Amino acid sequence: MEGTLTARDKVGVQDFVLLDAHTSESAFVDNLRKRFNENLIYTYIGTLLVSVNPYQELGIYTVSQMELYQGVSFFELPPHVYAIADNAYRMMCSELNNHFILISGESGAGKTEASKKILQYFAVTCPMTESLQIARDRLLLSNPVLEAFGNAKTLRNDNSSRFGKYMDIQFDFQGIPVGGHIISYLIEKSRVVYQNQGERNFHIFYQLLAGGEADRLAHLGLERDPRLYKYLSQGHRAKESSLNDKNDWKTVSNAFSVIDFTKADLENLFGIIASVLHLGNICFEEDPQGCATVPDTHEIKWIAKLLGVCPSVLLDALTHRKIEAKTEEVICPLTPGHSVYARDAMAKAVYGRTFTWLVNKINSSLVNKDVTKKTVIGLLDIYGFEVFDKNGFEQFCINYCNEKLQQLLIERTLKAEQAEYEMEGIEWEPIQYFNNKIICDLVEERHKGIISILDEECLRPGPATDLSFLEKLEETVGEHAHFQTRKLAGPKGRKRIGWMEFQLLHYAGEVTYCTKGFLEKNNDLLYRHLKEVLCRSSNRILRECFLVAELENRRRPPTVGTQFKDSLGSLLEMLICKEPSYIRCIKPNDTKEPSKFDDFLIRHQIKYLGLMEHLRVRRAGFAYRRRYEHFLQRYKSLCPDTWPHWHGPPGEGVERLIKYIGYRPEEYKLGKTKIFIRFPRTLFATEDAFEFSKHQLVARIQATYKGRLGRREYVKKRQVTTKLEAHWRGVLARREVQRRRWAVQVIRRFIKGFIHRHRPLCPDNEEFIVFVRKNYILNLRNHVPKNVLDKSWLRPPGILEHASDLLRKMCLRNLVRKYCRGVTDERRAMMQQKVVTSEIFRGKKEGYADSLRQPFATSRIGVSTSSLSDGILVIHVSPEDIKQKGDAVLQCEHPFEAVTKLVMLVKKENMVNVVQGSLQFYISPGKEGTIVFHTGLEEHIYKDKNGQLTVVSVRRKS
Ligand SMILES: Nc1ncnc2c1ncn2[C@@H]1O[C@H](COP(=O)(O)OP(=O)(O)O)[C@@H](O)[C@H]1O
Ligand SMILES: [Mg+2]
Repeated sequence: MEGTLTARDKVGVQDFVLLDAHTSESAFVDNLRKRFNENLIYTYIGTLLVSVNPYQELGIYTVSQMELYQGVSFFELPPHVYAIADNAYRMMCSELNNHFILISGESGAGKTEASKKILQYFAVTCPMTESLQIARDRLLLSNPVLEAFGNAKTLRNDNSSRFGKYMDIQFDFQGIPVGGHIISYLIEKSRVVYQNQGERNFHIFYQLLAGGEADRLAHLGLERDPRLYKYLSQGHRAKESSLNDKNDWKTVSNAFSVIDFTKADLENLFGIIASVLHLGNICFEEDPQGCATVPDTHEIKWIAKLLGVCPSVLLDALTHRKIEAKTEEVICPLTPGHSVYARDAMAKAVYGRTFTWLVNKINSSLVNKDVTKKTVIGLLDIYGFEVFDKNGFEQFCINYCNEKLQQLLIERTLKAEQAEYEMEGIEWEPIQYFNNKIICDLVEERHKGIISILDEECLRPGPATDLSFLEKLEETVGEHAHFQTRKLAGPKGRKRIGWMEFQLLHYAGEVTYCTKGFLEKNNDLLYRHLKEVLCRSSNRILRECFLVAELENRRRPPTVGTQFKDSLGSLLEMLICKEPSYIRCIKPNDTKEPSKFDDFLIRHQIKYLGLMEHLRVRRAGFAYRRRYEHFLQRYKSLCPDTWPHWHGPPGEGVERLIKYIGYRPEEYKLGKTKIFIRFPRTLFATEDAFEFSKHQLVARIQATYKGRLGRREYVKKRQVTTKLEAHWRGVLARREVQRRRWAVQVIRRFIKGFIHRHRPLCPDNEEFIVFVRKNYILNLRNHVPKNVLDKSWLRPPGILEHASDLLRKMCLRNLVRKYCRGVTDERRAMMQQKVVTSEIFRGKKEGYADSLRQPFATSRIGVSTSSLSDGILVIHVSPEDIKQKGDAVLQCEHPFEAVTKLVMLVKKENMVNVVQGSLQFYISPGKEGTIVFHTGLEEHIYKDKNGQLTVVSVRRKS
């Protein structure tokens, strides 16, 4: 409920106890109006539900709504009739005790609808076994049948229940609905014979005529047109557009088949319904003696046929009366007026008792034969206070009934309040309230109460009239503070109270009753003569309704008033041992219009439903109370100590919380399990603070939640990754195993091959040998000799020695061939020279071996010698050829000879150059030296400091 406290400005408060001005009727009406305008038809007063008839479908009775309210704590959701039903049901299941839900309000306020909604709620939400579905269906289907026979169109309600109904739904220990029981109160029999302008008789008559099969109607002697029947046409509303009698007939027929009605039962039942219609059409005339006669016995014959009685006896009974004298019976004729009375009395009695039979029959189909202990939830759909312009005996009974129920309510509410205070260990604060026992006593007290006085008037010999009854009342209860008549009121009361009227000051307000018809209605007399006829009927239903024993019993049957008082007494006895829930229904306007809120009408109902009084009692102590857990759960975010979790006892948490938010001591009390808050404003302030902090909380909760989602996602991914990883590692490991296995095999084969390497080629060493071969060849590739002088060769394994030899030779031959091919003509010439030199010098001259390594120069370009008589020869080499060491400077004894031979050898005469003075030569490539030739006294060769070679020769005389 707290959930919508925030919207209170617009939609009012959901619980009237939270109204600041709780004693103001205007504030009450305002709150109701605000909510009604927003289509919020339900409001609580504590645990009492106030419901305003919306006169439109609001879509709040869907299965999903039912599920929403199922098992949810009472104050957590907006007020709803389902919350009341669910609360009662859950309490019943958990505490295994009995409950009742009292639904009251004016005609048309929505009582019957509310009780149907509750029944549907149980049918949908309660657990169910297949075998018990029949019980459930019967419970549901008993409704249309009862409504057909007990409801009628009135000015206030097209489907007005014309009887009070108490229905017990029985549940087994598992909370499964297993059976039911219905008690009806005060069926409005007078409607059978008379309807006000604009109203109708009970639905069933019209339904039978509109929907009944043609042969059925023929069998009953009926015509389709309801206007042909007096009992159906007095209200001039026989045809009603807002009702679909034909369809309703189908529903009722279908229901009959489910709730165990046999064909014979239905035949008898509709025989009775038809005979009532025929009764209404009997016309009486007056004969010359003033006695009643029936000129046309057509209807009598039909009735006799349908009820299984003798037509002449019936005719007799309708026109004569048996008067019992002391010893004998005298039969005297009736006037037409009395005959009409007798006829109507018969119709009412027949219909009334048939209705009772019908209820009993339904009960026998709802009974659960299982004897295990059951718990019940009772639904009491009963008229609320009725205050019309003219109030008669019926209103008197109804208002008396409400007075009694109010007593029950006050007693239970106060008791519950006191019990709660005691249980919670809170000091009891006395509540001032009006105890209406005094009014109940005024009505029901033995010998002195209004009902007793009425009975007395009915029974007493001599002429008793409604007026004499009124006088008797003035005599007996005239002093009573809640009783008033025109006479007693003196001049003041004249305007308000009529001659035939008395006024009662009910707890809900004044009601003025007109005594006209009180005696007759209380007597509800059926002439004995007619009773005898009915007792002898061959119609089985009538035989069960009119027992012969009744005729033999000479005592008067109890009057209607006393019967009602007694049945009310037993109803209260039944209710007092059950836990109550209340629904108060309010009619928003008299025109059955949606969205029309008639202030005057509603104020009237608020008053007569005693809602202000109820609110006052509820608010006398504390406006609000909640269990610590619930209070803490909602508001814990307002105090750092209790948010997000309070680990201690909830009571201490609440104490800490309210201290933190600064409640003043007079604003609250702490019980054992609940906190009691005295003023609504305290709660509103707390609620506002909560509303403020909620947004921050939401963000935080959202973040936490998102974090959680993220982590969940992460963990999932990690698991997936681990799995993938594991699989992949598995794959790798398996590959490795395979590789190693292969390697082992290879190595094993290798070793085996190695062991058998010397054997001739066989499978054991074949592979090894191939490998060795291949390996050797591949290795050899990198070790082949590069030139002919290289004598190295890779050592072959044993098996390849032969092949290796061949290869070696081949390689050598190849190298030689390559070498030979690479030798130039020049080189060949030089080598040939070397060969010659070898022949000349080998083994004969020192230095020969060294000269071998140096090739003979071929590039000498000339020979120089000086003009003097020295033996110096310079053999020039080509200065471009950097490989050359430089020019050769020779000294020989026979320069002429040597030069000539040289020239002849190389066949180049012009290569000799005779220089004067000096000559240039190359010491090494690029480095020049000079030889200077002189003549002197003795031969001499020396090297100057600057590296210059000086050759001194002796001048020869020529
Ligand atoms: N909760 C509701 N939602 C919609 N219409 C409703 C509701 N309650 C009552 N009504 C309308 O009001 C009419 C009278 O209601 P009903 O329960 O028969 O009144 P009561 O039993 O108090 O005389 C119904 O036929 C229906 O049209
Ligand atoms: Mg009703």
